[in-house]
Amino acid sequence: MYAPPRSSSVVRKVTVPDVRARKGSGEKIAMVTAYDYTMARLVDEAGVDMVLVGDSLGMVVQGLSTTIPVTLEEMAYHCRAVARGLGRAHLVGDLPFMSYQVSPAQAVESSGRLMKEGACESVKLEGGQEIAEHVMRIVRAGIPVVGHVGLTPQSVHALGGFKVQGRGAGAEKVVEDALALEQAGAFCIVLEAIPPDVAARITEVVSIPTIGIGAGNACDGQVLVSTDLLGLSRGHVPKFAKQFADLGQQAVDAIGEYVREVRSGAFPASAHTYKPNATSRADGPAREPAAHDDLDAPLALDLWH
Ligand code: KIV
Repeated sequence: MYAPPRSSSVVRKVTVPDVRARKGSGEKIAMVTAYDYTMARLVDEAGVDMVLVGDSLGMVVQGLSTTIPVTLEEMAYHCRAVARGLGRAHLVGDLPFMSYQVSPAQAVESSGRLMKEGACESVKLEGGQEIAEHVMRIVRAGIPVVGHVGLTPQSVHALGGFKVQGRGAGAEKVVEDALALEQAGAFCIVLEAIPPDVAARITEVVSIPTIGIGAGNACDGQVLVSTDLLGLSRGHVPKFAKQFADLGQQAVDAIGEYVREVRSGAFPASAHTYKPNATSRADGPAREPAAHDDLDAPLALDLWH
């Protein structure tokens, strides 16, 4: 069988069995979202275990107010870009609205496309008991599945908004949904916007890792949207999204400085300018380009993705 050439610095990928083995190990799973190659490289370098190309790209990248219009083609495009930036982290691709709800066959087909066209290593879908059969069929096709219960943003209109789920009698439904996903073969489950006691109960009763977002700290791992975590988001940010940096303000300051320097003529200075041609002489050729004139990033051809 053909195997791709290995370099001595190959990093070991986080696999589905690795993620499952974290359950009860005491080592929590760190997951973040990414939507492009540049962010993928940064989050991988930072040591996250799992990267989710979430359909939140509708809001984060496309400026939409919900995830509903995001298409499978758009997901595959962003997953492919993220895949190229990951060395270690496991890549999960979100199945967008109406790419899996119609039938188990549609769910298998869409999952296959995210694996083939998006270079994903698993897929995520929203819902519980009502999509358990879909999950089972995807898993049977050899595709690992991440479940997602609690606040399921693709159902925002049915839920009446982006609201905390699993309060009062609703707690039982979220627990039953998680159990149905485990039974169907999901290898971990995202718990979004539910009370911490409900998340703790689910984490105790299921044998697969739970990954919380707005679900307290009893979960086996956590996920955040990378732009929220970095302070790049503008407008409303949910209560659970801790901002670990303020890169948004740093970006505004840096770009403002650039604008000022362009307007004043301070940029570009000689440090950012190639050497001028020698003054042309009637009796000789202009000088040859110096080595430092080249845009000397090596031409790297990644034929694998
Ligand atoms: O789309 C997304 O980013 C998500 C996370 C919030 C879990 O589903």
